Amino acid sequence: MIRTIEWTDEGVVMLDQRLLPAQEIYQTFSGYEEVAQAIRSMVIRGAPAIGVAAAMGIALGAKQSAAQSLESLDREFEDICETLSSTRPTAVNLFWAVERMKRVYHGVRSQSLDAIRSALVRESLTIFSEDIEANRAIGRYGQELIPENARILTHCNAGALATAGYGTALGVIRAAVEAGKRVQVFADETRPFLQGARLTAWELEKDNISTTVITDNMAGHFMHVGKIDCAIVGADRIAANGDVANKIGTYSIAVLARENKIPFFVAAPIATFDLSTPDGSHIPIEERDADEVRRIQGIPIMSEEAKVAHPAFDVTPNNYITAIITERGIARPPYNESLRSLAEGREKSDGHSVL
Ligand code: MRU
Repeated sequence: MIRTIEWTDEGVVMLDQRLLPAQEIYQTFSGYEEVAQAIRSMVIRGAPAIGVAAAMGIALGAKQSAAQSLESLDREFEDICETLSSTRPTAVNLFWAVERMKRVYHGVRSQSLDAIRSALVRESLTIFSEDIEANRAIGRYGQELIPENARILTHCNAGALATAGYGTALGVIRAAVEAGKRVQVFADETRPFLQGARLTAWELEKDNISTTVITDNMAGHFMHVGKIDCAIVGADRIAANGDVANKIGTYSIAVLARENKIPFFVAAPIATFDLSTPDGSHIPIEERDADEVRRIQGIPIMSEEAKVAHPAFDVTPNNYITAIITERGIARPPYNESLRSLAEGREKSDGHSVL
């Protein structure tokens, strides 16, 4: 299995995703500010992986803090959480993980400083292992929706690299293969950061899953000529009504899928739900540096002065989404009801998870 992120005595170790697939380099980030910078600069990316990195960053910051009194640890802890929260605005898993670490902190605050630090390290490791378990469950539920010989379109990277391991959308594909189904994946290149070409193709190749990379503007053509049976993507934030924020370009695929009568699935853990946000119009969309569009791997492809826009995510309205696959089952419209009931833990117990 690909190791995306790992806790060690020396610090948080991450596979530098900016360098893939040319180089597989693991870097050790030995302070919480370095972990925050790694998230910001896309050493690690993908909503669940960002959440795990933030939790480990907080644990690292608390572990290394020189605070001798509870009051000074309180202050430092707040600063550490603030630094990690300010890295990327869209993926709600980041804020979910920070809140979870804060709850643990306040739950053990009456104990010794050492006990507080250990509890935070333990919690970050729990968030890590729960994410892998969630992805396995998403895979088990989701693979039932994948037909034999399916030709599956995916966008960006919602794989092992975007999570603690196994992946969400790619977890469903992996589970379908493990269930004995033959599949063929079409991976959108995903401009400008090329997560599809650089990361999805790389990790599926390692698992011997047949993958064809297409440029983003080819997706409609392949759907129109009958070469795609379903589309499956991950999510960065899912609003209460089922609107989904995901990598820029997801919306176009969902609209094209509807036009071509192709099911469009979203796979994400409950940690990606943001039920306090009523709909997608309230989801903050990260605007990244224009140079990421102006250049590919550092090489300019347009004038350095060219005016460019770079929203990193878009919102797909719920009516384009056939189903949302989670670790507790599959949500169907109307999402206001099905998402809430999954979030509250009302998993269908009759062995048939589809709501
Ligand atoms: O900018 P990124 O690479 O962090 O964006 C990642 C995505 O949009 C993924 O599809 C999403 O986080 C789900 S990952 C399981």
